[in-house]
Amino acid sequence: MKISVIGAGNVGSLAAMRIAGDGLGDVLLIDIAKGLAHGKALDLEDARAILKYNYNIKGSDDIRQIRDSDIIVITAGLARKPGMSREELLSKNAQILKEVCLNIKELAKQAIVIVVTNPLDIMTFYALKITGFKPEKVFGMGISLDTARFANLIAKELAIPVTDVEALVIGAHGEAMLPLPRFTKIKGVLLDEFIDEKKEELLVSRTINRGAEIVESLGSGSAFFAPSAAISAIVRAIVKDEKRTIGLCSYLNGEYGIKNTCIGVPCRIGKNGIEKVIELDLTKEELARLVKSSDLVASAQAQLA
Ligand code: LAC
Repeated sequence: MKISVIGAGNVGSLAAMRIAGDGLGDVLLIDIAKGLAHGKALDLEDARAILKYNYNIKGSDDIRQIRDSDIIVITAGLARKPGMSREELLSKNAQILKEVCLNIKELAKQAIVIVVTNPLDIMTFYALKITGFKPEKVFGMGISLDTARFANLIAKELAIPVTDVEALVIGAHGEAMLPLPRFTKIKGVLLDEFIDEKKEELLVSRTINRGAEIVESLGSGSAFFAPSAAISAIVRAIVKDEKRTIGLCSYLNGEYGIKNTCIGVPCRIGKNGIEKVIELDLTKEELARLVKSSDLVASAQAQLA
């Protein structure tokens, strides 16, 4: 299994480290900056003797090395600065993504492509358009990260292990995301048995703002530990054909009444990519908010040539 990670910034290099360390395949780290990916790969390789584990990792500034990759993770692009929304990255990152996707289309026709570059939902749609690959093979990591953040904040609030929390977030990976307390359970018991509506609302808004809170605190760059963990969980689900349900940014063709756009929804994922989009039984109000979230993505899509 050849797994290429494009972009050797914090998210890309940590994702490469986790994927290699988990033994999910041979990892290739690519970055346009001369020597960056190569240097990081050498460093990661040196760790093998300490970890006593023979994973394979290479780095290059030549994107043509992605030839015949089975899985490609795209992290390339600029990250937010404090006070910026993910959407403000649109035009710069679209240029970068287009170049990357044209190479993928030419060199790795069989690949499953995981988009991480922001604004994530719009970039996923764009990657789908440029590659022309089937929708089940091009999707975005986004709400699995948001779901992890929601679960973490709930666990901290209730002072319980995070593994007891089954959280759910859908929608865009941005301000219009929808953490769904109504679908969130603690060992089978609904969240609202544990906290009142006001607290719930606070946890929802903290989840939505978590990425910005981290950007603000870091001062430069955005989150990378949890994003890279979310990426490697998706790669694992594909490599091991786990058929797990994970929140992904998927192309919708009528599911939830939404067409021709990419938005975060729970998806069953295995060796062929997305095997099923799970349709939750949403209330009218929840559905209206999901549609609104997808309308924002659809209108931004229209700006991309
Ligand atoms: C975040 C960035 C990676 O949510 O979108 O932290």
